[in-house]
Amino acid sequence: MAISLNGMIAKSDDDTSWISKEEWDNYSLAVRNAGCLVVGHRTYGILTKQTEFSEFKDIKLVVVAQDNFQTLAQNHLVAHSPKEALKLLSDFEQVVVAGGGMLNTSFVEENLVDEIFIDIEPIILGQGIPLFRDKDFERNLKLVGQKRISDNEIQLHYEVLKYFMKKTESAGGVVKNKEGEILVISQHGTSWSLPKGHIEQGEDSLIASKREIKEESGITDLTFIKELGTYERFKIPKDGQGEDRSELKIIHMFLYTTNEKNLKPIDLENPEAKWVNPQEVADLLTHPKDKEFFLKILTAI
Ligand SMILES: NC(=O)c1ccc[n+]([C@@H]2O[C@H](COP(=O)([O-])OP(=O)(O)OC[C@H]3O[C@@H](n4cnc5c(N)ncnc54)[C@H](OP(=O)(O)O)[C@@H]3O)[C@@H](O)[C@H]2O)c1
Repeated sequence: MAISLNGMIAKSDDDTSWISKEEWDNYSLAVRNAGCLVVGHRTYGILTKQTEFSEFKDIKLVVVAQDNFQTLAQNHLVAHSPKEALKLLSDFEQVVVAGGGMLNTSFVEENLVDEIFIDIEPIILGQGIPLFRDKDFERNLKLVGQKRISDNEIQLHYEVLKYFMKKTESAGGVVKNKEGEILVISQHGTSWSLPKGHIEQGEDSLIASKREIKEESGITDLTFIKELGTYERFKIPKDGQGEDRSELKIIHMFLYTTNEKNLKPIDLENPEAKWVNPQEVADLLTHPKDKEFFLKILTAI
């Protein structure tokens, strides 16, 4: 992406005529090498009117937009989210995401960007469209390269650091009923986990685990049997897809038995709880680290 010294990618009226020919050539080569490109709906409308766009006639292009619309060519597809765009391009080794500001924000916010290439044009624009638009978020970067692309322009190459920015403590339980079945909880209706949640101020992990089990299943009759240990994993995002690497959870687990069978979740974020045969639990759990933990303790419960 080309930016002004102060981080604008276009003037307020979408003018990008201040971007040099050398920068375009550099960008065009990167897109042609990758073979594919993702752009936001507004950028698509502007980019496709430029004469240089003919260089991309063989490129598989995905436009991210909320609604379907008629694209200008057969190799131009529409996706309704960044993840859907990447799915459509899953055959490609590298995917170039090239703006505008709104689309850049969507991709970075969802932790879908590995590297960022920024070409700094020798200009300051008092007003305009910023590289990342309208959202309150932050990501840490590592400078991994730099090169001169003309006498007056430099390219900075960053890696987006994916490791966690927040470490939280959670507690939960493996809860067994009289039939030997295990309690499993749905989060947001999109993923399955053992009951657990954040330890609140003033709580120890045992108290927090009992509170979370009650909130997520309605069960209050809990007999503590033993500690099951601690493991770490990243958070599962609300849509249940992949993991949200901005939060690393340290999870403390305990074994309980209960005489209760009736399940009535109180917490609206966890709409469903169910009893599952122990042999089927690992297959149901969404996060691989939850599966791994459960298989490790299965013979001990
Ligand atoms: N300097 C450079 O290298 C460079 C590169 C590219 C673009 N640009 C400039 O950037 C400007 C455009 O940037 P922009 O921020 O205004 O617009 P944009 O990011 O190109 O497009 C925004 C639109 O994309 C769709 N969109 C974005 N994220 C989405 C998501 N998560 N889910 C569904 N749809 C999503 C929405 O389309 P709908 O609302 O229509 O559904 C949204 O209104 C233009 O002036 C362009 O020339 C500069």
